[in-house]
Amino acid sequence: MEATPGPVSAHAGGKVILLGEHAVVHGEPAIVAGLPAGVTVRVTPRPGPGTEIAATGGLDDPRLARAVAEARALAGIEAERGLAVEIAGDLPVAVGLGSSAALCVALVRALEAASGRVASDDDVARNAHRLEGIFHGTPSGVDGTAATYGGLLWFEAGPPPRHHVLRPARAFDVVVVLSGSRHETGRTVAGLRERAAASPRVYRPVLGAIGALVRAAREAIEGGELELLGELMTMNHGLLRACGVSTAELDAIVEDALAEGARGAKLTGAGGGGAVIALPAGEPAALAGAMQARGHECFAVALAPRS
Ligand code: PMV
Repeated sequence: MEATPGPVSAHAGGKVILLGEHAVVHGEPAIVAGLPAGVTVRVTPRPGPGTEIAATGGLDDPRLARAVAEARALAGIEAERGLAVEIAGDLPVAVGLGSSAALCVALVRALEAASGRVASDDDVARNAHRLEGIFHGTPSGVDGTAATYGGLLWFEAGPPPRHHVLRPARAFDVVVVLSGSRHETGRTVAGLRERAAASPRVYRPVLGAIGALVRAAREAIEGGELELLGELMTMNHGLLRACGVSTAELDAIVEDALAEGARGAKLTGAGGGGAVIALPAGEPAALAGAMQARGHECFAVALAPRS
C-alpha cells in the first residue's frame, strides 16, 4: 500500500461513563459520553525503515511500541516504510477518562490515513478494540466506541458490540472531579472478575442491579428527569463501592459533591483512583467552584449540549 507523501493527523476524544462501568464487562449495558479533549496522532514519512515514536502529555508508555506496530500492520504499511509517529494528549491519563482508547482510535485513524485508505468508523472501532487489549487485557469496548463515534451513547459489549445514540429531552452537564490518584484499569477489572467468579451468587445480582439502574437512567435521560438521573448515579456509586472498586478518596469526593447540592455523583471509569462525576442541580460552574473551594481539581463538561 502506497503511503501518502505528506503528514497526516487524527484526533479522538476521551469519554465519561455516565453509568454502567464494570457491569458492562459482565454483559450489562452502559451509558457513555464522548469528550472533546483527547489524543492527537500525527504521522510523517521519514527516511529509512521502521517507526520513530514520540509521545507527550503523559502518554509515553512501554506498551506504545507494540500498539503502534500493530496499528501499522492493520493499516497494511510495510515495515520498510519509515514513519515518525507523534502522539500528544490534552486529557489527564489513567484516571478513567478514556485516554488509552482515544490513543488507540487516533492511532488507527492516522495510520489508515497514512496508508492512503479510508476506514469506516466500524472498522476503526474494531481495530482500536484490538489495540486497546494491549493496554487493558479484555476491554468491553465502551471506551473505544465513545472515542470512535462521540456523542451520548447506549453501549452493549455483545458479542457483537452494539451502540446507539441517546436523545436527551433536556441538556445537561457533569462536573468531572479528579481524585489526584491514577488507576490501573486492567488490575481493577481483573480483581472484580476474580471476586465475581469466586462468588457468582453474590456478585451476579449486584451487577444485574447496575444494569437495571442503567436502563432506568436511559428513561430518565430520554424523559428529561434529571433529578431521577442524579439519584440513579448515586445508587450506581453505592453498588460500585459494594463491588470493591471505589476508594475512601472517591467516596469522600462523592459526599462532598452531594453536600454541595449535586443531584447525584459517582466514580467514573474503573475506579481504584481516577475521577468522580457529579450532576449539578444548578449552574455547572457554581458546583465546580464549590468543589474547587473544597480543594478538588475539576472541570464542567456538557454531555448533552444545548441545541
Ligand atoms: O479504563 P477506564 O477507567 O476508562 O474504565 C473502563 C470501563 C470498565 O468498564 C471498567 C472496563 C471496560 O472495559 O469496560
